[in-house]
Amino acid sequence: EADFYLTYKGVYVPKEYHSPESLRYCEEFRFRPDDILIATFPKSGTTWTQEIVPLVLSRGDPASVESLPNIQRCPWVEETEASRVRLEDRSSPRVMTTHLCYHMMPLSFFTAKPKVIYVMRNPKDVLISLYYYHHMSVAYGSWFDHVRSWVNAEDKSHILYISYEEMCWDLKVAVRRISKFLDKPLEDELIEKIADRCEFKNMKKNNMSNYSTLNIIDQSKFQFLRKGITGDWKNHLTDEEVQMFDAVYKKNTQDINYQFIWD
Ligand code: PPS
Repeated sequence: EADFYLTYKGVYVPKEYHSPESLRYCEEFRFRPDDILIATFPKSGTTWTQEIVPLVLSRGDPASVESLPNIQRCPWVEETEASRVRLEDRSSPRVMTTHLCYHMMPLSFFTAKPKVIYVMRNPKDVLISLYYYHHMSVAYGSWFDHVRSWVNAEDKSHILYISYEEMCWDLKVAVRRISKFLDKPLEDELIEKIADRCEFKNMKKNNMSNYSTLNIIDQSKFQFLRKGITGDWKNHLTDEEVQMFDAVYKKNTQDINYQFIWD
């Protein structure tokens, strides 16, 4: 494991994307109150939200999502070199991403209180999506710890909680919620335009968002925008596996005081 992972605050993070320098950068990162942070456990709707938020800010102008790959458009605070752009030089509002838990945020996060969009997804579907993604053990700690840390956050006043499922079921409603949260209310027509652009089949065509222009993953066997549905786990898990999953899930969610949409 030491070959693949670094440990950061007790959690494995892949070496492929992180270095001691990038983690130190994150540790010392100075958040601004008007920053926007997309926070997710992997495979929960990160890329999707990285498309929606810039479009909301640009009032639907696609130039914002057609000019830069998602990893530069909404860079990970804790990540690399590869996506590293000098965030200090960016004008507000900066849009950034993190896969880290709440308590792993740098000190400035807790004083600046940037706007956070925390996207959650049914862990059974996260499991399937991850399985296709790397066939290997899961970094960024356990799903339970991640979700617990964010939904039990001490100060929830600057966090919007939304799920992948809600985005799938009614994307217009989800875009409207996000736009209101960002204090960027949009006319119905623009909401519709953005939702249409971010629909799976349309977004899949945006080379700046489907990882096709980035040398990070080999998409010859599967596409990063793979299936884009809820409940794909039903096509993969046996009854026995579901029972096992449910038992673990029940045990580990007891102390999570949150009504998940899939429960
Ligand atoms: S990552 O690696 O953590 O950044 O991955 P992440 O973007 O969080 O999750 C990838 C899954 O999100 C799906 N996806 C979408 N679904 C519906 N609509 C849109 N527009 C969309 N964009 C990305 C993507 O297909 C992955 O899910 P699966 O189940 O594998 O299809």
